[in-house]
Amino acid sequence: MSKGCRAAITGVGSYLPARVLTNADLEKMVDTSDEWITKRTGIKQRRLAGPDDSTASMATAAARAACQDAGIAPADLDLIICATITPETLCPSSACYIQRDLRASGSAVFDLSAACSGWVYGLAIATRFIEAGQFRKCLIVGSETLSRFTDWDDRGSCVLFGDGAGAIVLEPTPDADKGVQYTVMHADGTGWDYIWIPAGGARMPASAQTVGQGQHTLKMRGRDVYKFAIEKMQWLLGDCMAACELTPDDVDLVVPHQVNIRILKSAAQKLNFPMDKVYVNIDRLGNTSAASIPLALDEARRSGRIGPGSTILLIAFGAGLTWAGATVRL
Ligand code: ACO
Repeated sequence: MSKGCRAAITGVGSYLPARVLTNADLEKMVDTSDEWITKRTGIKQRRLAGPDDSTASMATAAARAACQDAGIAPADLDLIICATITPETLCPSSACYIQRDLRASGSAVFDLSAACSGWVYGLAIATRFIEAGQFRKCLIVGSETLSRFTDWDDRGSCVLFGDGAGAIVLEPTPDADKGVQYTVMHADGTGWDYIWIPAGGARMPASAQTVGQGQHTLKMRGRDVYKFAIEKMQWLLGDCMAACELTPDDVDLVVPHQVNIRILKSAAQKLNFPMDKVYVNIDRLGNTSAASIPLALDEARRSGRIGPGSTILLIAFGAGLTWAGATVRL
């Protein structure tokens, strides 16, 4: 495919671990209540990785489903991007394990660390490679095993997260009305400590002391994240419509990062955007970071909420701080 083509989503797939952790289960673990969690976040339950699940294994399952949906063999992939903040290992990348298990040797592979925005960052990057004619069959997977980096004694954060993986296959199309129409990516590193994992990297290598102090688990300034997320969700929604000269009537569905139902409702309300066009599954899956949008996309498509010709907005914000959006026609 020569330059001038668009990048179209040709397959979607996902994987969810079987174990369900309900708010009632959490009530037995920390000082919280179903009422508090539901009211403050919209979350009723989340999935947790089992002993045989890991970031790479869940990503591989989602990737297989996406390739099957696209009607391509995993071995034909040219590029694999795995968006994650809970990688299989620090080295090599999760994408290497995924490639091995898909038997897609020879493809270019890497992990992308932009937290909850990571999958949208990956979509934007793969789109540019396809438009430039460098790659034809790209897999963008978001996969997280957040449960293994959660402080299960911290009621302010442990109620929020879930595990899972979602993937898409992106391929060239000559149809200018189809595919990724617009992408935007931003970050503000001055907010690095809003959400972070202190130990396990070069700054503070893992040791008995860091593990004993729980420094390998995710720390979060919930209130600050909340304010940032509302502002960016609102901005991204407006920007992704304005860039493609769309009004809310032209948009079939917004598939946002599933961060908190209050954040989604507040941003939609401020822009006068109808909430029935915002996909929500946070009640069942919680916040799955980089996996959240492709998981929701797969659900929305399988349930018939969207299909060929639908115009969708994909918007995310997360640790970093990072935020990113895309306007896509299926
Ligand atoms: N159950 C019961 N009470 C709780 C809980 C809980 N699980 N967690 C906190 N509280 C208490 C607090 O201790 C506090 O009590 P106090 O008033 O006696 O001091 C009270 O509830 C209010 O606490 P806040 O933190 O101010 O509550 P808030 O309304 O801000 O809700 C929440 C907290 C849900 C975390 C909210 O700030 C939020 O959703 N922020 C966004 C966080 C987020 O999504 N982070 C992840 C994004 S990044 C990533 O995914 C990697």
